[in-house]
Amino acid sequence: MSKILVTGGAGFIGSHTVVELQNSGYDVVVLDNLSNSSEKSLDRVAKITGKEVPFYKADIRDREALEKIFSKEEIGAVIHFAGLKAVGESVEKPWEYYDNNITGTLTLVDVMRKHGCKNIIFSSSATVYGNPAFIPITEECPKGQCTNPYGWTKSMLEQILSDIQKADNEWNVILLRYFNPIGAHKSGTIGENPSGIPNNLMPFITQVAVGKRDHLNVFGNDYDTPDGTGVRDYIHVVDLAIGHVKALKKIEEKAGLKIYNLGTGHGYSVLDIVKNFEEANGVKIPYEIQARRPGDIATCYADASLAKKELGWEAKYGIREMCEDSWRWQKNNPEGY
Ligand code: NAD
Ligand code: UD1
Repeated sequence: MSKILVTGGAGFIGSHTVVELQNSGYDVVVLDNLSNSSEKSLDRVAKITGKEVPFYKADIRDREALEKIFSKEEIGAVIHFAGLKAVGESVEKPWEYYDNNITGTLTLVDVMRKHGCKNIIFSSSATVYGNPAFIPITEECPKGQCTNPYGWTKSMLEQILSDIQKADNEWNVILLRYFNPIGAHKSGTIGENPSGIPNNLMPFITQVAVGKRDHLNVFGNDYDTPDGTGVRDYIHVVDLAIGHVKALKKIEEKAGLKIYNLGTGHGYSVLDIVKNFEEANGVKIPYEIQARRPGDIATCYADASLAKKELGWEAKYGIREMCEDSWRWQKNNPEGY
């Protein structure tokens, strides 16, 4: 059986996906340059699944390294997570983001086609909808203006991969638009490991809970939402990981070009998350209301019915489990890996 190459497999979503792939019987090979992760995540994946995780420390821009991997391993499909993802940093370092994410993907895809591997699942984001034209967001919702280079790399890579598939229909390309992944594996041994001050809500909350930060800053309480704070579609990372296994099955049936939202369809405000986290875990999260964060939108949640219909996928975990599992990981690993 051919193998699945997981780029960025040592990262947050990648490591959880490797668990689900191995548990579903897939042979996995991981490539990661460890620019935003630790190899320890893969040791922990191996403990969870009882299977070794073959690992190449390599960069997706390094053609020679990719050539070696594709020559040595028989790769049938690629799940492509590798990329830089910090929104603020992308505004400071646009060249680095376009080079890493776009040059990297172009190089990867070129090596793939030279080796006859034309199956790819790409990590996109709800950010491509910009300020969404309607809510809940279906895949028919037009793409919008991104507010930062990170978002543009996702939007542009969707276009690039779609054009490649249209020009050569041997390609199977699935673009997965993630909403807001949080939570962690039930074991509490793998999870999100942000470097520096977390940008995203849940890692910030868990750092407050563990005593690393004294309060949460809530960015704006004057949005047009039920309590004035921003509403998002938080999705458990294990559900998201299972979505990739389902997408792989679709690729095996010859998918062509497909786009799916991976979200739960439920919107929670910042204060809903604080309250649910406090109730689920019995810890207090002090917060202060601050000004709106530039580039933020009021409301974003998915209509994920297409993924249900065509992939047979649906999120199973609710907000309470997301809060419990995020906390278990942080509590057990206050310093990350
Ligand atoms: P992550 O940073 O934990 O994982 C990304 C991995 O890619 C890291 O291990 C990093 O070391 C690796 N990497 C980066 N550049 C590389 C390169 N040039 N060569 C090889 N490896 C490289 O992030 P994540 O949260 O697991 O996100 C995975 C993917 O999903 C990313 O493409 C991200 O943009 C996308 N995404 C994430 C979210 C989110 O909220 N976490 C939302 C939407 C989309
Ligand atoms: C952010 C990114 C988006 C990316 C997504 C997932 C921006 C503008 N957008 O989206 O491109 O795809 O992460 O990685 O950064 N919040 C606080 N206090 C905090 C942190 C967040 O109040 O300390 C609020 C935000 O204003 C928002 C909600 O919590 O209303 C969720 O924020 P976040 O986790 O950063 O995700 P997004 O804004 O959806």
